[in-house]
Amino acid sequence: MKVLITGLTGLIGRTLGRALKEKGHDILGLSRSPERAKKELSFDTQFYPWDLYEGEAPLEAIEQADAIIHLAGHPIADQRWTQSVQKKILDSRVLGTRHIVQSISSSSKKPKVFISASAIGYYPYSDHEQFDENSKSGDHFLAEVCRKWEKEAREVNSVSTQIRSVQIRIGVVLAPGGGALEKMLPLAKKGVLGPIGDGRQMMSWVHIDDLVGIFVKALEDENYKSVINGVSPHPVSNRDLTQQLMKALGKRSFLPVPRVALKLAFGKMSEVLIQGQKVVPKKLNDLDFRFLFPDIESAMKNIIENQGGKP
Ligand SMILES: NC(=O)c1ccc[n+]([C@@H]2O[C@H](COP(=O)([O-])OP(=O)(O)OC[C@H]3O[C@@H](n4cnc5c(N)ncnc54)[C@H](OP(=O)(O)O)[C@@H]3O)[C@@H](O)[C@H]2O)c1
Repeated sequence: MKVLITGLTGLIGRTLGRALKEKGHDILGLSRSPERAKKELSFDTQFYPWDLYEGEAPLEAIEQADAIIHLAGHPIADQRWTQSVQKKILDSRVLGTRHIVQSISSSSKKPKVFISASAIGYYPYSDHEQFDENSKSGDHFLAEVCRKWEKEAREVNSVSTQIRSVQIRIGVVLAPGGGALEKMLPLAKKGVLGPIGDGRQMMSWVHIDDLVGIFVKALEDENYKSVINGVSPHPVSNRDLTQQLMKALGKRSFLPVPRVALKLAFGKMSEVLIQGQKVVPKKLNDLDFRFLFPDIESAMKNIIENQGGKP
């Protein structure tokens, strides 16, 4: 299949793109900067220029694609959530998705499948409630972002009922060389990483290889449709996740980080670190998806080994 990917240079995109390429698919990318993007990837790909704020994507890219995977968006947990950062987080997803769907509408040849990223930020924060795909949405900022993002993605169904659409609500991605772990590792390696607050907040995580597997299935298997939680079957508390990371590094967990320190350091954005969400992959279980790393211990061990072993 010819697969067009937005956000191909990102943490998920570059791993997914390489896996699809290895499976024999042709990959095309959309990027703000095709020259830079080409250099950033470890495999050869044709890129077309697209800035998600600015309107439709080039039709010559859209019309070649048998499938479109839409991952691009302004980073969520990289900066303090000032008004302007929150606007970028929301607009990049709502407008970016709208523009891709409009491009599909304008194109003379439609893809067979449209897969859009979403996030478990859709659900409310809670340490004891468990959420699956049928659960209600939350009333916080990220929940609003995810609801609006998914609504735009589902618009593809009005463009053509022949296009299968999938929205993957991604959990915290654990991967070597990026994402949440990249921020935790420097402290962990120095032996000074501890749980956040009382560490009881639940973290719904997914190993990057399993997330890639979920996207590949969503691409190739017609039973994958609508909303799917992209999380491992065993969410863990923040305390357990920290302990398993330290254990994989041969260290002991350090003192807890007070919540107030995170609030001071990150402002409103700290809510994603301080508050928990216990999300389970009901649809994936129903579809009999086989996880390579269902538990946090094996996931951490694998990632630390891929990171270059113990320090
Ligand atoms: N990583 C996680 O833990 C996680 C969890 C839940 C949901 N997600 C969602 O999954 C998606 C992919 O995540 P990721 O971690 O791979 O993201 P990432 O590493 O931050 O990469 C984001 C990508 O978006 C593209 N992008 C940003 N601004 C753009 C713009 N103005 N126009 C066009 N492209 C733009 C960038 O491509 P160029 O620089 O080449 O343009 C980049 O490749 C995101 O929407 C994210 O919110 C991720």
